[in-house]
Amino acid sequence: MHHEINLDKLDQLKKGDPENMLEALSGLPTQCQDAMQRARAVNISFAADFKNILVTGLGGSAIGGDFLRVYGYRKCTLPILVNRDYNLPSFVNEQTLVLAVSYSGNTEETLSAYEEAKLKKAPIVALTSGGQLAERAKKDGIPLILIPSGLQPRAATGYLFLPLLVVLEKLSLLSDIAAEIEETIAGLADLSKAISAQVPTENNPAKQLALRFYNKIPVIWGVVGTTETVAMRWKGQINENSKALAYFNVLPELNHNEIVGTEVPEKFLRELEVVFLRTEDDHPRVQKRFDITKEIIGERVGGISEVWGDGKNPLARMFALTYLGDCTSAYLALLYGIDPSPVKLITLLKNKLAELPEA
Ligand code: F6R
Repeated sequence: MHHEINLDKLDQLKKGDPENMLEALSGLPTQCQDAMQRARAVNISFAADFKNILVTGLGGSAIGGDFLRVYGYRKCTLPILVNRDYNLPSFVNEQTLVLAVSYSGNTEETLSAYEEAKLKKAPIVALTSGGQLAERAKKDGIPLILIPSGLQPRAATGYLFLPLLVVLEKLSLLSDIAAEIEETIAGLADLSKAISAQVPTENNPAKQLALRFYNKIPVIWGVVGTTETVAMRWKGQINENSKALAYFNVLPELNHNEIVGTEVPEKFLRELEVVFLRTEDDHPRVQKRFDITKEIIGERVGGISEVWGDGKNPLARMFALTYLGDCTSAYLALLYGIDPSPVKLITLLKNKLAELPEA
């Protein structure tokens, strides 16, 4: 099959990736270390008796909230919600910890939610690389975790997720996280070597997956409570990096609806490349569901495979799979001859909205 770029020719990879997305991705382990240091250095304490936690943000800045929500499912006694909107849910009050996250600091939905959180007297922490959010947090005397600018938000996941863990630890809403985080970062450093541009396709699982997805529609199936955010992330990364359509869903829910939709139209079903994201943390009955689902739909779709997240703890496994998906999506972009970095359609939409009068 013809590809625009040979993934094993480093000069072609470099030419196809002028804004260095692959390099930014390979820096994730170092970014995670820096993110931890920056967050730990900020003084955060509130007198509030917290009842719930809300992360507000969009796109690459919201997904850290979803990782936190899944992580917190096992470890945090308070409910964690993610808000991707201008407004806040009505339960938010002075007992809600609001984490306002925007990489650029200029996302209008997040700024609007920040203002509403202030009106509701919720304790707020801001996480941003600058922009309006940084300015407002400084002016309002709100704890501010500043991260470096110059990355695409989706290449800043370490900066946009780990500080949220640190904030919760500082407020005694999470405990004993240090060892898990260290193991996660060490696992990412090992994986970085295994899936980097220098490793040829025959030994590189990210390049192999990109080839499977080429000229197909990726369908990513994860598991609620373990890899649900990872599956959403794979879809988003294929959209934003590869500029391609992709879909995701989770077990066990998809066994109650989506699986039935694999009968027609046959010609499109053959174009689907289904990937199961699996970890040892999945419920034993869900493990069986994967096997049976594979048996049932195996003949109907174009391709089906499984990827297992390895690591020393659930966080490490979740991030190993995330990182694999990130690199896969960048290689897929390059196979199509597409620059993984710019997201012209998001920029176009934001510019068109900025021209309109404020509501
Ligand atoms: C990801 C990306 C978008 C932004 C989103 C919100 O790389 O470009 O998903 O994350 O448009 O913008 P920020 O993150 O600046 O608040």
